Amino acid sequence: MFNNDDLSSLRWDAVSGTVEIIDQTLLPHTLRWVHLDSLEAYCHAIRHMQVRGAPLIGITAAFGLAHALAVNPSDQNLIAASEALLSTRPTAVNLRWALEQIRAEVSSLLPWARAEAALNKAVELRAEDIANCSRIGEHGLSLLRELETDGKPLNVMTHCNAGWLATIQWGTALSPVYKAFAAGIPVHVWVSETRPRNQGMNLSAWELHRSGVPCTVVADNSCGQLMRQGLVDCVIVGSDRTAANGDVCNKIGTYLKALAARDNGIPFYVALPESTIDWDCASGAKIPIEERDALEVLSIAGVDASGQGLEVNLAAEGTSAVNPAFDVTPAELVSGLVTEYGFFAASPEGLSEMRALLPGA
Ligand code: MRU
Repeated sequence: MFNNDDLSSLRWDAVSGTVEIIDQTLLPHTLRWVHLDSLEAYCHAIRHMQVRGAPLIGITAAFGLAHALAVNPSDQNLIAASEALLSTRPTAVNLRWALEQIRAEVSSLLPWARAEAALNKAVELRAEDIANCSRIGEHGLSLLRELETDGKPLNVMTHCNAGWLATIQWGTALSPVYKAFAAGIPVHVWVSETRPRNQGMNLSAWELHRSGVPCTVVADNSCGQLMRQGLVDCVIVGSDRTAANGDVCNKIGTYLKALAARDNGIPFYVALPESTIDWDCASGAKIPIEERDALEVLSIAGVDASGQGLEVNLAAEGTSAVNPAFDVTPAELVSGLVTEYGFFAASPEGLSEMRALLPGA
């Protein structure tokens, strides 16, 4: 029986107080845990994508701020450490959200009481993330059940990695897949490789394969053709920031999949926790898009025959490239948002309906 309780991207040990993350830059070839023991190590892990994926970035930052307050709980350090963590990556709003959660918890406390309160809050956010992703999976499972026909494999396409590696457990886009697999639904995942950093091939395929879920990696450019051939029942992706009008920002290439899905009458779902919604952001046009190093486009990382890491240049010397890490899919191309609160239309009305369900609304 499938069980993913042992799968976690960030582990916290209550006895020793240590935080460890999987260094995702080494996957799928090496599974290495890294102990985060300084604010610099937390910032490095986020900036250099040892941890990545919007929810995981947020939870890592929460533990990072708690760590910084244990070293120095002053007002000045609270501000400086928050700013250092916030500057690591610009697009995933969960980063800001998580830091605000910690700051709201500790700001009014005397400095001596801050470290413990911050750590307790980080631990709580971690547990909530697991529960929320599990709920996203249950709601997404209901959608998958509607698409299931006579025991035929259900073909789900995904992009980038929005599995448990991108959260703490379960994932967002992959959570319904894991729930379907656990429920005995014959599910198969088309994993688009996700150039330039290949999070689909390196991370999604690795975690699905590890759990025994049938999956096939395809070049990003194959996805439209697979849809035209009738080989895709639905697309499910995650999000780094969703605007209050339902526009969805996610890994570069998401928009093209949404266009192809619309042209082929295929449902295009976005799975996300409420912490990924930027309620103050009126539309996707206002979302900051991370520009990454052009070298990521011009080269490719892998291992040689002996398992040694290597980086291969792909382009002629002097070739220029641009590397936007995310794109925005307009709300009208999104068939619906799968959240821990249920399924909502990607529209101002759908999001208002969801907002009314939030605690304290
Ligand atoms: O650049 P990354 O790897 O951090 O981008 C991650 C994504 O785009 C994910 O799809 C998104 O964060 C959702 S994760 C549940």
